[in-house]
Amino acid sequence: MKAQLFAFSLLLVTTLANASTNSSTSVISQILSNPASFGISGLSGAEVTQLQALSNQGGALTNCQLACSVLSVLIPSNVSLSSSPSYVPIPYWSAQQAALTPTCRVDVSSAQEIAIVLQVSKVVSCPFTVKSGGHAAFAGGSSIQDGILINLAKMNEVTLSADRKTTRVGPGNVWSDVYKVLDPLGVSVVGGREAGVGVGGLTLGGGISYFSGRYGWACDNVANYEIVLANGRIVNVSPTSEPDLYWAFRGGGGSNFGIVSAFDLMTFEQGPLWGGSKLYDMSQNASLADAFSNFVTNAPNDDFAHLYLAFAYAVIPGFVDGFFATTGPTYGKPVANASIFAEVNKIPTIPVIGDQTSISNMTQLSIALNQTSFARETFKTVTFKNDAQLIKDVIQLFIEEASPLLNLTGFAPAFAFQPLSLNIIEQMSKNGGNALGLSTDDEPLTIMNLNWGWASPTDDATVYAAVDRFVSRSVSLATQRGLDNRFIYINYASQDQDVFAGYGKDNERKLERIRREYDPMNVFESLWTGYFKLS
Ligand SMILES: Cc1cc2nc3c(=O)[nH]c(=O)nc-3n(C[C@H](O)[C@H](O)[C@H](O)COP(=O)(O)OP(=O)(O)OC[C@H]3O[C@@H](n4cnc5c(N)ncnc54)[C@H](O)[C@@H]3O)c2cc1C
Ligand SMILES: *[C@@H]1O[C@H](CO)[C@@H](O)[C@H](O)[C@H]1NC(C)=O
Ligand SMILES: *[C@@H]1O[C@H](CO)[C@@H](O)[C@H](O)[C@H]1NC(C)=O
Ligand SMILES: *[C@@H]1O[C@H](CO)[C@@H](O)[C@H](O)[C@H]1NC(C)=O
Ligand SMILES: *[C@@H]1O[C@H](CO)[C@@H](O)[C@H](O)[C@H]1NC(C)=O
Ligand SMILES: *[C@@H]1O[C@H](CO)[C@@H](O)[C@H](O)[C@H]1NC(C)=O
Ligand SMILES: *[C@@H]1O[C@H](CO)[C@@H](O)[C@H](O)[C@H]1NC(C)=O
Ligand SMILES: *[C@@H]1O[C@H](CO)[C@@H](O)[C@H](O)[C@H]1NC(C)=O
Repeated sequence: MKAQLFAFSLLLVTTLANASTNSSTSVISQILSNPASFGISGLSGAEVTQLQALSNQGGALTNCQLACSVLSVLIPSNVSLSSSPSYVPIPYWSAQQAALTPTCRVDVSSAQEIAIVLQVSKVVSCPFTVKSGGHAAFAGGSSIQDGILINLAKMNEVTLSADRKTTRVGPGNVWSDVYKVLDPLGVSVVGGREAGVGVGGLTLGGGISYFSGRYGWACDNVANYEIVLANGRIVNVSPTSEPDLYWAFRGGGGSNFGIVSAFDLMTFEQGPLWGGSKLYDMSQNASLADAFSNFVTNAPNDDFAHLYLAFAYAVIPGFVDGFFATTGPTYGKPVANASIFAEVNKIPTIPVIGDQTSISNMTQLSIALNQTSFARETFKTVTFKNDAQLIKDVIQLFIEEASPLLNLTGFAPAFAFQPLSLNIIEQMSKNGGNALGLSTDDEPLTIMNLNWGWASPTDDATVYAAVDRFVSRSVSLATQRGLDNRFIYINYASQDQDVFAGYGKDNERKLERIRREYDPMNVFESLWTGYFKLS
């Protein structure tokens, strides 16, 4: 900071301190007296004048109006006030998230700007939230009513390192942006399967990928995180720098520990691959359950293979009229019908549109699977031991619980089984392991995740009740048969689920200890609204 400006600031502080001690004056005097503690390298005369003017507005502003006004001075071109007629909201995947309106949105462009927003939020006590791809489903997951929305979208760097071993990925990217850059370079990273999902949330919560058989989840393949901590410091977190925090970030979710301003993702050579959706008539459900379950058991025989199994309801005139099934076989080499898919390949698909597999690339596959609806949405998830009969019985429960709701406007129930085969779990232990509490001492597992959509808020209670009944009936069945598992995947969880308990007592306590160590003032607990919090 320039000496002349500094002297000017001090003078102003003295003046203000004499005038009054309401929150706006004290906040602004703190900024003026020590801009460096707000991550600001210097204030121009014009900025000082604007801050002084704000200070004079005093108690006329709410805390968040004050915070947003201060930010408009400090980061002028990147702050939008929702009260402005020209304000354009940013899109979210679910209608519940989109329904919340922040006091302002800050389209941050650097770690320094994130730190400034954080420091202002703290000094004014205005809550904030952080949005990457905005695919969390519940209200407030990455949106906020009357607070600061930190929108990461501008931080969209994707740069392959000279040695091709890592890729610097900005936290505002969605996965198709990443694949668009990497596919032509003949490399890839362990990331999401759908185009529009964000790098931030998916990676911080876990990250199921087509490449998980070879490398584990996305969170197991981050060489380094650049993070803005609760105290505003910007640090690098890797197996050798802040190793405890590195462990916590591998599955602990973002909102307890810091805001990630860049990911260095481990990168591998990757050419074209085989994959795509297959659609089936519901009459194939039992064969599909057998084939999927056998795949999960046998997956360690071929780390290049990936398979999920899903069920949904849709009317696509001429093709699908009601409940149907789908799989997503994918193979990390340009090889169609690898032998590990022999059983699933025998199951007949729906005519004409039923087999969409081809030799493809990550950009293409992620766009083919992209979901573009903006309906009301809810997730919920549980984990089971891999068992074909349980899957068959759960499919029946799905039909029982979804059928009475079929007349609800826009009703689109879906649920899936994701593989947690032993080769995936084994990869989770590399570089010091992750926080998820999964072990190869257990049997292979399968994650069941629900994604139900509908149109009208008046149907919310009906849908949530059916979702809860379906899940609790499924869990009862699994428990009776000794097939239950405690793990709850944070990225597929509903707001009411206790995800960290699902990581096991030891891991939950360790995460809490690390949280307290890095955020002793409970900044994130008190100001970062939404998503899943450690105590
Ligand atoms: C259509 C669809 C497809 C999906 N496919 C997959 C899949 O293939 N594999 C899989 O594992 N999951 C998948 N998911 C689940 C997905 O991982 C979660 O919904 C995830 O939270 C989305 O991340 P996001 O960045 O888009 O979400 P956001 O809503 O932007 O963020 C989710 C949470 O992460 C926090 N966060 C985001 N960025 C940062 C950051 N830089 N620093 C700190 N915290 C941050 C947010 O504050 C928020 O709490 C899918 C979800 C949908 C809706
Ligand atoms: C806050 O301070 C300003 C500037 O000193 C003053 O004009 C205003 O009246 C004060 N507001 C309250 C509620 O005290
Ligand atoms: C705002 O964002 C742009 C990128 O869009 C960036 O260049 C600029 O430094 C940011 N900050 C300010 C104060 O405008
Ligand atoms: C990815 O596949 C699409 C569709 O086949 C094709 O148009 C595109 O050129 C491919 N990209 C690369 C880098 O091969
Ligand atoms: C599921 O498969 C079983 C066994 O083939 C069959 O009896 C049942 O009708 C199927 N369910 C549906 C909804 O088609
Ligand atoms: C792969 O198997 C499907 C049947 O599941 C078949 O239609 C297709 O022709 C096969 N592709 C190749 C390249 O063998
Ligand atoms: C994917 O879907 C999202 C909405 O979820 C949309 O915003 C985005 O443009 C889509 N991306 C592509 C590449 O189609
Ligand atoms: C849906 O509505 C139709 C007529 O509108 C009715 O015949 C049918 O029974 C309803 N189905 C359910 C499941 O309520």
